Amino acid sequence: MTHSPMYLFRLFCLAAFLPFAACNSSTSNQEQTMTEKKEVANAPEDVHSFAKPTEAVARHLDLDINVNFDEKVISGRATYQIENLAKTDHIIFDTRDLVIEKAYISDSLTETTFEIGKEQKHLGQPLIVAIKPETKSVTIQYKTKPDAAALQWLNPQQTAGKQHPFLFTQSQAILARTWIPIQDSPGIRITYSANVKVPPALLALMSAENPQQKNSTGEYRFFMNQPIPSYLMALAVGDLVFSPIGTSTGIYAEPATIAAAAHEFAELDKMLVAAESLYGRYRWTRYDLLVLPPSFPFGGMENPRLTFVTPTILAKDRSLTSLIAHELAHSWSGNLVTNGTWNDFWLNEGFTVYFERRIMEQLYGKEYADMLEVLGYQDLQHTLEELGPKSEDTRLQLDLEGRDPDEGLTDIAYEKGNFFLRHIEQAVGRERFDLFLNKYFNTFAFKSTNTDRFLEFLRTELIKGDEKLARKINIEGWVFSPGLPKDHLVPASKRFEQVEQAYNSWKNGTPAAQLNTKDWSSHEWLHFIRMLPEPMTTQQMAELDKAFHFTNSGNSEVLAAWFLHAIRNNYTTADQALETFLTNVGRRKFLVPIYKALTATPEGKKKALAIYAKARPNYHAVSTSTLDELLKK
Ligand code: BES
Ligand code: ZN
Repeated sequence: MTHSPMYLFRLFCLAAFLPFAACNSSTSNQEQTMTEKKEVANAPEDVHSFAKPTEAVARHLDLDINVNFDEKVISGRATYQIENLAKTDHIIFDTRDLVIEKAYISDSLTETTFEIGKEQKHLGQPLIVAIKPETKSVTIQYKTKPDAAALQWLNPQQTAGKQHPFLFTQSQAILARTWIPIQDSPGIRITYSANVKVPPALLALMSAENPQQKNSTGEYRFFMNQPIPSYLMALAVGDLVFSPIGTSTGIYAEPATIAAAAHEFAELDKMLVAAESLYGRYRWTRYDLLVLPPSFPFGGMENPRLTFVTPTILAKDRSLTSLIAHELAHSWSGNLVTNGTWNDFWLNEGFTVYFERRIMEQLYGKEYADMLEVLGYQDLQHTLEELGPKSEDTRLQLDLEGRDPDEGLTDIAYEKGNFFLRHIEQAVGRERFDLFLNKYFNTFAFKSTNTDRFLEFLRTELIKGDEKLARKINIEGWVFSPGLPKDHLVPASKRFEQVEQAYNSWKNGTPAAQLNTKDWSSHEWLHFIRMLPEPMTTQQMAELDKAFHFTNSGNSEVLAAWFLHAIRNNYTTADQALETFLTNVGRRKFLVPIYKALTATPEGKKKALAIYAKARPNYHAVSTSTLDELLKK
């Protein structure tokens, strides 16, 4: 039998002889103000959080923590300013694998009781802290466990400089609760400040106002005065230096990486200008990048004011910077206007992909953006094939109840979301669509929203009762149905036509070395490699490799795509490069298809397991949790 947290809490109250008021949750709502009532009505229900924000909700966090590299532990206190909307006797936070030591109310003056509820798969445990109807603040004293899923503790060998350890967090989707006791729902926003103590040789950075250099004490103070959802809580600690780009943009990286990063991202300021010209003022003051060690499990993470980014986009030729445009675009779609639950993830990612390509089009022209669009369309087709066109996970609005949200967050949200917006753009014209989007970002700024609210806004602000337009836009088909509506836009790319020509002449016997590949960017190469036939002979593989040096490519996208062919065609010349790549790079998007391709044959699987045994310590928990599943016997 399972008990609800509240049932357990009541039992606990009885056992602890708490004063009646502290345990009585059904106090009258009379004192609620109008705004509070509105707040209650607006909070979207989130199946991935134990918090009950309509009853008691956190508004501000003061974090005071120490980062201990020897023990791999973060410890300290989280003090919340709260609103007890329902005048209840408890407030619920999310935790997973945390050690909760003490709880206080009233600015840490009074110790209070707390209970940690039953563990639920994927979600962790509710932390239920006893409060009073008038309680304004709650302090939780806690520490993390060494294998906290959000945290990756790197030893010096795993960094570029090899001298100092490194720590970074990854909180999205529901991992913030593994390093802070927090109401871990994207429908809840808090402002925060933080005191962070780290070893004096290291610099600490957060998703907040940041220092630009180390100080001798190792104590850093942070402020984030704009309300953000918990999944944007972020911390990185390492031997880091800063290099400015414009007056409000810059880059943090290890000393060994900073010059390459400064070169690669030199156009960051221009991107910011382009983004603002499309959808309005940038609202977060500064926009900096932090280049992480290669184990970072994502391409990028849009932590406010400080995007975390993989070093695998340091291609030397600035050819992979659409990823930066993507993370920058999240400063509007995601960070400013936030998906209220993970079922609405497409509101974050679909809008961001659309916005990303608009930025790239503005900076580098339509032909450039068209290439990205075609590659995205290929990704979408691939995901649809993998999931099956009838899969519920191919709807834009998802139902992830009972599952790890991470599982449901696929390319559907990104690319089907993008193509839905492109479809609307086509139906109403770009000018009208841009006005609509501007209004959307302004109307919902610093708020969390959800699919239903977006659709309501779409109906009132754009469709406005035009039934023909409503039929054309086809909300039902795009948002609530699986697969892709038939009348979707199929993107085409001029520059890719040349790639297709080259490919065809190679297929028809022209030697690879004689193909016209002049001025191809990594996008053209990627398209070429994705087009290659299955199977290929060793001679064909070797011929391509000799002409184009794929196995030794410095471009991670090209390399990852090439390795798939190397694996499927048993092209052992690439074995060493493949192993080096897999042991150094922790980016899940690359790892998953490569390991999957390896496991297709018994010998490949053996190889995969041998490499994984060596490489696993270099990966973040986000990647190992997917790969453990994939590689289990
Ligand atoms: N916010 C995402 C990363 C993310 C999504 C983390 C879901 C955890 C759960 C980020 O903006 C992103 O989409 N990154 C992509 C790059 C992008 C260019 C598609 C990535 O990491 O590959
Ligand atoms: Zn994104």
